[in-house]
Amino acid sequence: SAGRDIQALIRKVEVTHALAKDDVVALLRDTHYVEDFFAAADRVRRKYVGDDVHLRGLIEFSNICKQNCLYCGLRRDNHKLKRYRLKPETIVEFAEKAQSYGYRTVVLQSGEDEWFDVETMTYLIKKIKEMDLAVTLSVGEKPREVYQKYREAGADRYLLRIETTDKDLYEKLDPGMSWDNRVRCLIDLKELGFELGTGCLVGIPGQTVESLADDILFFKKLDADMIGVGPFIPNPDTPLAAEKGGTFEQSTKVMAMTRLLLPDSNIPATTAMESLNPQGRVLALQRGANVVMPNVTEGEYRQLYQLYPGKICINDTPAHCRFCITGKILGIGRRISETQGFRVKQA
Ligand code: SAM
Ligand code: SF4
Ligand code: FES
Repeated sequence: SAGRDIQALIRKVEVTHALAKDDVVALLRDTHYVEDFFAAADRVRRKYVGDDVHLRGLIEFSNICKQNCLYCGLRRDNHKLKRYRLKPETIVEFAEKAQSYGYRTVVLQSGEDEWFDVETMTYLIKKIKEMDLAVTLSVGEKPREVYQKYREAGADRYLLRIETTDKDLYEKLDPGMSWDNRVRCLIDLKELGFELGTGCLVGIPGQTVESLADDILFFKKLDADMIGVGPFIPNPDTPLAAEKGGTFEQSTKVMAMTRLLLPDSNIPATTAMESLNPQGRVLALQRGANVVMPNVTEGEYRQLYQLYPGKICINDTPAHCRFCITGKILGIGRRISETQGFRVKQA
């Protein structure tokens, strides 16, 4: 019967970490064995990456963006948003605070803001590397030469979600951008020796389950080191205001499938997941995730980095978030990692 097929597929992927696209689709569509599916992802997480949770301190250093992605609150045509750009000294100060909270990685994220040229970015990377922190960048598409300079300055990791592997859909939602260039970026980053992070949005208008299966198989083919999956949450100040958005359940299914197929990768319990479900990150940590990215941006800037409505922690301080997330992680019997949390590849 179909039920036996689903259970057999769960057993198979838990052991082989490989599946055909049709089988990925069947598991994403299934509604009867979802708890068994999540339990398998949790076992694989535990077996390959253990009970440690890696914390990455996130600094949202500019909400200025030259791109116009239809889903994102930072898009250039959103004139309702008050824009900010942190001074390099402030970014360094936030990184020092991140270190004082015990975080071993700082993630520098922003819109595509050309004010941060190669000199400024390499200055920041070098400064933060001197603090014995791992540096992750998430600043969008750049020429290979620019990525190379970042790498030479000491940046360790790069996050660039493919968003969707459906090229036509991508180019509709990210007007003026090219899907092929995004893939070029990912390949360049990998060749330059960054730990490579990618990922997708779940529930964007026009996306199918087949396309989500393609996304997961794309992560596997790329052999991404980190994969961030999150629900699309419609923003009222964007052209996608009236769309439905993704669900918590479906995003965690895509995440769990990713864990089953890339067992030793680093997978965050994403902020957007918790924005849809008050227990979202803890549940995600029990469905395959092993990373959390607490916000270390201070003051009014947090409110202004408004990708979507309902974003968590916008009125909290970095110190409070540190305390809060520690309690949640220890509360489910997991540990806070004391390492920089690079991917440990298993044969
Ligand atoms: N500008 C860089 C880029 O696009 O790669 C980094 C910053 S961008 C704000 C980070 C991620 O936010 C994007 O990759 C996208 O998946 C996510 N995002 C944007 N708008 C969103 C929304 N409405 N709901 C959920 N996630 C969203
Ligand atoms: Fe800019 Fe990134 Fe938002 Fe697109 S997703 S508008 S590139 S900040
Ligand atoms: Fe920010 Fe809980 S992590 S308030």
